[in-house]
Amino acid sequence: MGLQIDPAFVQAAEHRPKSTISDAGSIPLIDLSPLLHHQIPSDPSDPAIADEISNLIAQIGEACKDWGFFQVVNHGVEMELLEKVEAVTKEFFALPAEEKRKVKRGEVNPMGYYDAEHTKNVRDWKEVFDFSVTEWVTPSLRLENQWPENPPEMRVVCEKYYIGVEKLGYKLLELISLSLNLAAKHLSAFYEDSNSYIRLNHYSPCNSPDLVLGVGHHKDCGGLTVLFQDEVGGLDIKRKTDGEWIRVKPIHNSFIVNLGDIIQVWSNDKYESVEHRVSVNSEKDRYSIPLFFNPASSTNVKPLEELVSEDNPPKYHEYNWGHFYKTRKDSNFQKLEKENIQI
Ligand code: SIN
Ligand code: FE2
Repeated sequence: MGLQIDPAFVQAAEHRPKSTISDAGSIPLIDLSPLLHHQIPSDPSDPAIADEISNLIAQIGEACKDWGFFQVVNHGVEMELLEKVEAVTKEFFALPAEEKRKVKRGEVNPMGYYDAEHTKNVRDWKEVFDFSVTEWVTPSLRLENQWPENPPEMRVVCEKYYIGVEKLGYKLLELISLSLNLAAKHLSAFYEDSNSYIRLNHYSPCNSPDLVLGVGHHKDCGGLTVLFQDEVGGLDIKRKTDGEWIRVKPIHNSFIVNLGDIIQVWSNDKYESVEHRVSVNSEKDRYSIPLFFNPASSTNVKPLEELVSEDNPPKYHEYNWGHFYKTRKDSNFQKLEKENIQI
């Protein structure tokens, strides 16, 4: 159909999206408004926990167990921040290619603009811009932001957005911790000096949406992903119960949350990181903005002692998150596919 497509983008037949994908029966929708009136308790057995909060923790636990994905509303991130970050994202990607390439990510620095990402060796139909708040530089890996001249307010808007959505990330992590019957701060204790970053994604219309993917099927390898998507839609997840691909229906002013491999390992498989991908369409540009909310590079990840027992022995060996991240970079950072972490 239409113009011939570069074969680098073409997915193997078994990974191509069906045009009939359904958005019915999608991921759980969780209302975080109880957090507007109540503090998150520090201990799961605190006798003074309000019913609304216990209820919320139970809903989060169910969603993590059954889906690995959920959507949140009344999340406390200001609407204005979302509108502004969406506006600068659109403005930045609308710049001429040579402008965007001035902030292109390099061999050693993965932050900045990139338009040739591969997932599982197939090129993704997208362009991205990555930035972080914690910057660090080592001889073999630097995380150093590169801000474009235009739009001039991009840096300020992005940094404000980061702070707003990171706050939500911490709340979610505390609720997830409580849902595992751990102290609220148990998981966030690994996040001091976190190597989190935000990605701005742009998926342009494609005349062969049946052959390509915006992001090939993958699982997120970090802690938690907190994603804002616009109203176009295209995020597909592989439903745990039956292995069907379903489309996540966009809900205005909501975030999509999914668990990465690190939470899977910490919980010793009580919660799992679920496969997903991005389909594109022939008419509309789509924008999405994930926060990859990751623990500190120094974190040694292993099943948490509180969640293993004689009957439920650890399913994973310990690994160092920073080393894992860096060796992915050294071996081939451009191919950001998940490595097999079950070593
Ligand atoms: C991703 O999984 O990396 C992107 C998700 C999206 O654009 O919806
Ligand atoms: Fe992802």
